[in-house]
Amino acid sequence: MINITQTDLTDWLEHVRIYANNGNIIDYIPALANQQPETIGVAYYPVGGQVISTGQDEYMFTIQSVSKILTLALALIQHGEEAVFSRVDKEPTSEPFHSVAKLEVKDPAKPFNPMINAGALAVTNMIKGRNADEMVDELLKLIRKLSADDSISFDPEVAQSEYDTAYLNRALCYFMKQHGIVTGDVEELLDVYTKQCAIQMNVKQLARIAAVFAHDGLDPDTNEILIPGYVARICKTFMVTCGMYNESGTFAINVGIPAKSGVSGAIMGVIKRCGGIAVFGPALNEKGNSVVGIKFLEKLAEEKNWSIF
Ligand code: DON
Repeated sequence: MINITQTDLTDWLEHVRIYANNGNIIDYIPALANQQPETIGVAYYPVGGQVISTGQDEYMFTIQSVSKILTLALALIQHGEEAVFSRVDKEPTSEPFHSVAKLEVKDPAKPFNPMINAGALAVTNMIKGRNADEMVDELLKLIRKLSADDSISFDPEVAQSEYDTAYLNRALCYFMKQHGIVTGDVEELLDVYTKQCAIQMNVKQLARIAAVFAHDGLDPDTNEILIPGYVARICKTFMVTCGMYNESGTFAINVGIPAKSGVSGAIMGVIKRCGGIAVFGPALNEKGNSVVGIKFLEKLAEEKNWSIF
């Protein structure tokens, strides 16, 4: 059993604070360009225990690509494995998350995995609902259950800002629509996708969601089934193989736990049977992952020897 204490969090966050300005704040979503690099925080939610946190642990960030794990869980719950993987493959790619290149090397144009943007858009397209609002509601319902917090919602300003400038994601959608991977109205799909990426929370709420995965889909406090075990397992496997994009291999060697990052600077990590960890730091490396987040997780991984490998 891995024991993570308040002192661990405080000491190690202070230790990696020097890296807070190493990297770039994303600016292709205009509303995120003014995130402050010094806004860093971390939380750990142990299975069957009390959340601990330090730094800017109340700061509400948008989860961006971390949402891709949650839409994948929802699509698997709603449609099952066979249907989901008829639209998206299960293989890692060495391309960046927004790459268009690989869509043309496959026939049909099936995205490589649900963590890159093309694959995530194909998965979001499957969420049940008669319109965008109903689809977003379905996702929020699941996220509120996982976080045990009914107040979770999306930041409309960030969603609109991304929607207005999502030229590349639009291109991916239209390409996939041409090939029958995406169906229905592309603008409606982008509406849902940009809202899912703009879902807001703090590190404590994100750590609780990670704790559900650490507990194989069960509520970390009550043991109620929130996600079927096989869905949690599939999501965690994608976190290992594709969760940190084309840095997933390095991260697996240096940190060794399932994790998912977002371009806002969020990372959630899953320490099997022990708990969920969430770290936030908006300055990103060239792969789109939080510099402070990775440094923090590397330090803690080394000290706690928590690698699953
Ligand atoms: O679709 C996008 O480009 C963003 N909403 C999310 C990308 C993202 O978070 C990639 N993560 N590192």
